[in-house]
Amino acid sequence: MQTEKTFSSLYRPNQDEGARQSFVGALKAQLNGPVERRLAERYETILKPDYEQRHGQAPQDRWEGLTLFAKDPLYRLWGAAQFQSQHLMWESVEETCQRLLPELERRYQALNPETCLGRLELDPDLKVPEPIASVEIHRQPGGYFGASGQHELMTGLTYFGALELYRSAKGVLNDAGNTSAGDAGMGRYILGAVGRRFPDLEPKAVLDLGCGPGTDAVAYRQRFPEAEVWGLDLSAPMLKFAHIWAEDGGHRINYRQADARRTGFDAGSFDLIVSDIMFHETRHDIVPDIMREARRLLRPGGVFLNVDVPYQAKRLDIPEQVTNHWQVANNGEPFWTGFADLDMREQLSLAGFAEDEIFADYDPLGQRHTLVFGAGKRS
Ligand SMILES: C[S@@+](CC[C@H](N)C(=O)[O-])C[C@H]1O[C@@H](n2cnc3c(N)ncnc32)[C@H](O)[C@@H]1O
Repeated sequence: MQTEKTFSSLYRPNQDEGARQSFVGALKAQLNGPVERRLAERYETILKPDYEQRHGQAPQDRWEGLTLFAKDPLYRLWGAAQFQSQHLMWESVEETCQRLLPELERRYQALNPETCLGRLELDPDLKVPEPIASVEIHRQPGGYFGASGQHELMTGLTYFGALELYRSAKGVLNDAGNTSAGDAGMGRYILGAVGRRFPDLEPKAVLDLGCGPGTDAVAYRQRFPEAEVWGLDLSAPMLKFAHIWAEDGGHRINYRQADARRTGFDAGSFDLIVSDIMFHETRHDIVPDIMREARRLLRPGGVFLNVDVPYQAKRLDIPEQVTNHWQVANNGEPFWTGFADLDMREQLSLAGFAEDEIFADYDPLGQRHTLVFGAGKRS
């Protein structure tokens, strides 16, 4: 369905909403930047020397670091303000989403499956594994699967509205430097990561695992206009949003609700399988199963490439390990450290990918890095 004015052009916070969201973004940026740097300084100049004097060595891991920070007044203030900023983020973004929801719903209802560009395949019998089903990830009200009484389209819409606000406050700008809601910049970034490693890949079919609201999939469709593009996710509410987002923007993209461990596609269906920040939001014990399924789905010559958070403990000093742990304990990121403690090369190898085809690198993104991992499949 191609409408005169797409929903993407309607998704604009009004002046008051914009002011509140800017305040939240600035508060988060202050906490993530200057205040975290002050915490690191306090650690080096006060907390660590004090610990060394008592224990004869510096803290060795996040647990030892936590015992120091737990009593530190600046850390406690930082934690309280982080917690509140997350609450304010959802509250201020929901205001915009509630205002725009009736228009989105009207457009969704107007979709006719007979004339849609892409398909939406939902599975009402799918059992979402626990604890993924019941966790409110990032403390988003209702999580990825919605709360009772909540309008389903709100799930994807709110996630979509908050994502760029959250990301830019973390200092992560996409490759285009554009941080407006719905921008497909991370999809373009992933295509850049694919192109640098596999410049000759011209996929006929692309699969985006854990596609969420489907913003990245638009970039895959635009880059490979002849390819069949699929997004897959556990969450039906996310996929309903993704479907209306694609149709409204005039993009032919198919969506399927399934567990990435059991996608239901035939072996050899895809030449490019990607994911963007899915692995740190799924159970770490199912990671090799998801990778094994990706390997089954790839044709010979195909590529599996994933982008995720670069928070492996070996790369982080103690203050950052502690502030990351705070996110796990207090900010709805229960799978984050389980993921970060895994060795992705080992997981890919367990899934059957050949050692010499596996990659796991830190690629730059804005002021930060991402972990880019995956493998080619020769045969
Ligand atoms: C952080 S969101 C990322 C969404 C999107 N890729 C993006 O970058 O905005 C993680 C997504 O992974 C999905 N997910 C988590 N575990 C999954 C699994 N086992 N199979 C399929 N999707 C999964 C969640 O439902 C959620 O939509």
